[in-house]
Amino acid sequence: MSARFDLLIRNAEVIDGTGAPRFAADIGIRADRIERIGNLAQDSGSLEIDLGGRVAAPGFIDVHTHDDRLLLSDRSMAPKVSQGVTTVVAGNCGISLAPAPQPFSAGVTPPLNLLDDTGDWFRFRDFASYVQALESQPAATNCALLVGHTTLRLATMDRTDRPASPSEIKAMQQLVEQSLAAGAIGVSTGLFYEPAISAPPDEVIEVCRPLTRHRGVYCTHMRCEGDRIVDSLEETFRVGRELDVPVIISHHKVIGRANYGRSAETLAIIEHAMSRQTVCLDCYPYAAGSTILSADRAATSERVLVTWSRGMPEHAGRELATITAELGLSQEQAIERLLPAGAIYFRMHEDDVQRILAFEPTMIGSDGLPHDDAPHPRLWGTFPRVLGHYSRSLGLFPLERAIHKMTGLSARNFGLTDRGVVTEGAFADLALFDPATVDAGATYESPLQRAKGIDTVIVNGRLVWRDGQSAGEQPGRVLRRLS
Ligand code: ZN
Ligand code: CU
Repeated sequence: MSARFDLLIRNAEVIDGTGAPRFAADIGIRADRIERIGNLAQDSGSLEIDLGGRVAAPGFIDVHTHDDRLLLSDRSMAPKVSQGVTTVVAGNCGISLAPAPQPFSAGVTPPLNLLDDTGDWFRFRDFASYVQALESQPAATNCALLVGHTTLRLATMDRTDRPASPSEIKAMQQLVEQSLAAGAIGVSTGLFYEPAISAPPDEVIEVCRPLTRHRGVYCTHMRCEGDRIVDSLEETFRVGRELDVPVIISHHKVIGRANYGRSAETLAIIEHAMSRQTVCLDCYPYAAGSTILSADRAATSERVLVTWSRGMPEHAGRELATITAELGLSQEQAIERLLPAGAIYFRMHEDDVQRILAFEPTMIGSDGLPHDDAPHPRLWGTFPRVLGHYSRSLGLFPLERAIHKMTGLSARNFGLTDRGVVTEGAFADLALFDPATVDAGATYESPLQRAKGIDTVIVNGRLVWRDGQSAGEQPGRVLRRLS
């Protein structure tokens, strides 16, 4: 008896997301799930795609994003689906759209302005109403959501340059409880940024208390990724131990010339901690970071590119050094004129990037900033760059391991059930691509370029990307943890 599937993918090299070697098979999809994997030559599909030996992998999970608003304001999610991404984790680095902070009197407090610098999108009083908006108007990708500690501080405190009082901690704790009940999978912190830097570890632990009962995760942009990175790692582990929850070190890197090479040390420390508690980490495949523009960060960078500027918007995409010279000002004065603004900072060593990427437990997350005028190329290029540049060209790891770092490993660490693997019964989230040509199109000079080699992207059994463009469907869901 032959079966008829909704979607039948023929002649695939299946890389299943577990790290196992690839194998040849057909994939039969019915509704939102993978029903059969094997020789389906006798079967048919309402829609059929012949891959001719190209790869079918689980859709990529972007574990570190700032797509909180993009999910609502550009539901095609083109920067992500064009790379093969089918699920994004939003709410990272302590900043989430909900629950809404108190109204901003003098512009959106950085770094919340990375999500929206008008303030209009900070309109969801509670996390439940944000989730409801995402569910009533779905995006092309699935999402899993974190609630940000910096957002909570701005929702509950009159000023953030001090530790929270016991009553403020209580208020934040209640917001965490409500957010987790509404569907958040965890809490993120951005202790590196001004509005959270005054929060001592005990504040973080108390605010995050509800994570224990809800079995949520704790993600952190650590207080320091430079000289004091070891202290920050210890602080992170302590939060995880006291709450008995998994911790996720966001965009792991070592910053600043004096620290080049120290990933050997940090990875050894992380590996040791992993023997005692659950510790996960992600990184993006570039030796430059990107966030809001500041004189401190610029002063410790070898090169700076401006990604957006409210002060002088015409300079987006240009070198800070050139702008400074043209204006005939000091770098600090030029920055004053550009602010509020964003930047790309070259202050990492490529050897550290490669060592961290190759570390077996490291997941891939883009940290892309979707609202920047001239964004860091990681927004459009992260996943294909890992597959093309780092796996195929440099041979840093086999393709199976590269895929695992962006699928099966990520789903397991974040508790995303039946995602991140190509197996019978799993959700039909798939990236179909050509392993010989897949690579990033985006560069620092030309960042708004689609990936190369990505054929078709499928979310919950529906086509979201085909032949280099959006296929028009928006079948994404809000994913709960361990559900
Ligand atoms: Zn961050
Ligand atoms: Cu981030």
